[in-house]
Amino acid sequence: MNPLSLARPEILTLKPYGSARREAGLAPVLLNANESPQPRPGLCGLNRYPEPRPQALVRALAESYGLPPERVLVIRGSDEAIDLLLRAFCAAGRDAVLICPPTFGYYAVSAAIQGAARVEVPLIPPDFRLDRTGIERALREQPIKLIFLCSPNNPTGGVLSEEEILAVLEMAADRALVVLDEAYIEFAAAPSWSGRLDAFPQLAILRTLSKAHGLAGARVGALLADPRVIGLLERILAPYPLPAPSIEAALQALSDQAWLERNIAYIRKARQELAEALAAREGVLRVLPSEANFLAFAVARPKEVHEHLAAQGVLVRDLSRQPGMEGFLRVSVGRPEENAAFLAALDQALAETIAP
Ligand SMILES: Cc1ncc(COP(=O)(O)O)c(C=O)c1O
Repeated sequence: MNPLSLARPEILTLKPYGSARREAGLAPVLLNANESPQPRPGLCGLNRYPEPRPQALVRALAESYGLPPERVLVIRGSDEAIDLLLRAFCAAGRDAVLICPPTFGYYAVSAAIQGAARVEVPLIPPDFRLDRTGIERALREQPIKLIFLCSPNNPTGGVLSEEEILAVLEMAADRALVVLDEAYIEFAAAPSWSGRLDAFPQLAILRTLSKAHGLAGARVGALLADPRVIGLLERILAPYPLPAPSIEAALQALSDQAWLERNIAYIRKARQELAEALAAREGVLRVLPSEANFLAFAVARPKEVHEHLAAQGVLVRDLSRQPGMEGFLRVSVGRPEENAAFLAALDQALAETIAP
């Protein structure tokens, strides 16, 4: 399958913007981009536009994901990859995306911004498994170009099985691109699907440095896909997508594997402790098993508990209005003192919201 057969024809024929830095390369006299010739003291180099496709970072990310650089697009967080995929594959008013709620909310928002229709095939409670029959039917009946799967899924924390993902890849062959969002995969026991891209040209994987790598503020992520998809998205990228300080921060982070491993080990252990502490509380009705850096847990009066926590200075996410998540709140794994503060505030909130 050639995934470009799914792309918007006008994007395939678009002449991309040629930024000045791309043309100039590393010439010693740079007078083609209307920059300030003087750097600011202490902010050396920031008078110049950054490299449009930062090669050292592409190589470092490719190495860390075990892939050749032509399968890697470096972007401003995986949010940007979601937007780029929508823009490249979904014509407004004609094409659709498929999502499996409860899931990460930005897929639907990005689709709405692009004017793409949204087809929802909810995960099946209580274990939030994929509804394969529903997905197959939707693919037959609707002009779906992108299928968003999230594993580990935000907000439930569960991973999709190999069998579930394979089934969707099979259904999608020749029909749609499967976008597998692995924002939280470093915290999971299951491996990433990045090693299997060769076998599935219809697969695109979202990765990010915002979670396990601790770089949410730098806004760096990657789309891993067939080189033809990478080439297509490069045509519609902003001229200078990544700020120079973010490129620097990402290179620094990627060179310190030991920090990453320590952080992952800490989160996994703290997640386990927090899950046990939550399950031990009488007012907590259910804790979903999580392979991410957060836990979804159910209480009888989620809105009030959420408000009580906020009044004590502890912010968690109220999921209770999302279909399938009635009663649920989501808490991120924090530092030890933050987790302790959360549990203490939760005890107060539960005491005040459980009717005597
Ligand atoms: C499932 C999922 N995908 C993507 C993102 C966006 O991540 P990034 O910071 O890389 O844009 C998030 C953020 O919370 C997320 O939960």
